[in-house]
Amino acid sequence: MVNKITVVGAGNVGATTAQRVAEKELARVVVMVDVVEGTPQGKALDQWQSAPIEGYDSRIIGTNGYEETKDSDIVIITAGIARRPGMSRDDLLNTNAGIVRSVGEQIKNTSPNAIVIVVSNPLDVMCYVAKEATGFPRERVLGMAGVLDTARYRAFLAEALDCSVRDIQAMVLGGHGDTMVPLISYTSVSGIPITQLMDKETLDAIVLRTRGGGAEIVKHLKTGSAYYAPSAGAVQMAEAIVNDQRRILPCAAWLEGEYGMNGLYLGVPCKLGRQGLIKVVEVELTADEKKALESSAEAVREPMSAIKM
Ligand SMILES: NC(=O)c1ccc[n+]([C@@H]2O[C@H](COP(=O)([O-])OP(=O)(O)OC[C@H]3O[C@@H](n4cnc5c(N)ncnc54)[C@H](O)[C@@H]3O)[C@@H](O)[C@H]2O)c1
Repeated sequence: MVNKITVVGAGNVGATTAQRVAEKELARVVVMVDVVEGTPQGKALDQWQSAPIEGYDSRIIGTNGYEETKDSDIVIITAGIARRPGMSRDDLLNTNAGIVRSVGEQIKNTSPNAIVIVVSNPLDVMCYVAKEATGFPRERVLGMAGVLDTARYRAFLAEALDCSVRDIQAMVLGGHGDTMVPLISYTSVSGIPITQLMDKETLDAIVLRTRGGGAEIVKHLKTGSAYYAPSAGAVQMAEAIVNDQRRILPCAAWLEGEYGMNGLYLGVPCKLGRQGLIKVVEVELTADEKKALESSAEAVREPMSAIKM
């Protein structure tokens, strides 16, 4: 357990994240911050009152300022506007960039040693904004998307194969968007290559459904977007860091030459531990996967260049 984890944004993703962090007792204190007066306070009080029933001792508090977040070990940024039906992630670009920039500046002043996990969309670009606003090294600014995209892919595969989700090993790389790259060559079920268990047509349909996984939920909900699986993804990263698990998870990381790319955030396999990013793990890709990763990087670079820092 660390001393303090702050979740910025007490909306659907933020509040669910705070609850999961507390239930796993990853921090002594969990602070939820939001600009809306009363929302973080009310939700935190409600969540704290579930502690005697669920049996956790993490104390959850809600606030509109950063005083209570001082010296956080981890800050999870979920602040922003959620995607609405028909809205692309990139439509959110400028509003959320302003929000993430102001949050980053506050974190820099109040928690200069924190590890930041960005969830706000468009994810890869918001990671860049957070890195620039905090001035933190790449080891301490990571983005959550690959864990979620991979979870969706694994869930669809388990459903199609009628097997346990636990036995499905997979990795979805690339930007968090329609250009994400599910790695078929690294998809297996208890070590058995997926191509031995499923025909190409079914697999292609699952890859397509994974790419549209977020939009499928938005279409059902009509207002708002997914938050149960996204919050679980952010907490899996936080848990790997808090417990120094050395897990290899697909995360958005700032690339410095890995996969032949430089100067952008992209979903790649990352080893996570107490210091944050320990290492970007480079794996061999097929020619098609390499090409797909490169075009995914292009789709990240374009909105990135539209951001004024
Ligand atoms: N990376 C991913 O895989 C992933 C998955 C799901 C959602 N998201 C993104 O996460 C973000 C949050 O989604 P949500 O469903 O919780 O939205 P939401 O609208 O329920 O919550 C967002 C919250 O942020 C707050 N906020 C706005 N400006 C703020 C600021 N300056 N400081 C603090 N709080 C502020 C709002 O008041 C609101 O409570 C969105 O950008 C969404 O697109 C990302």
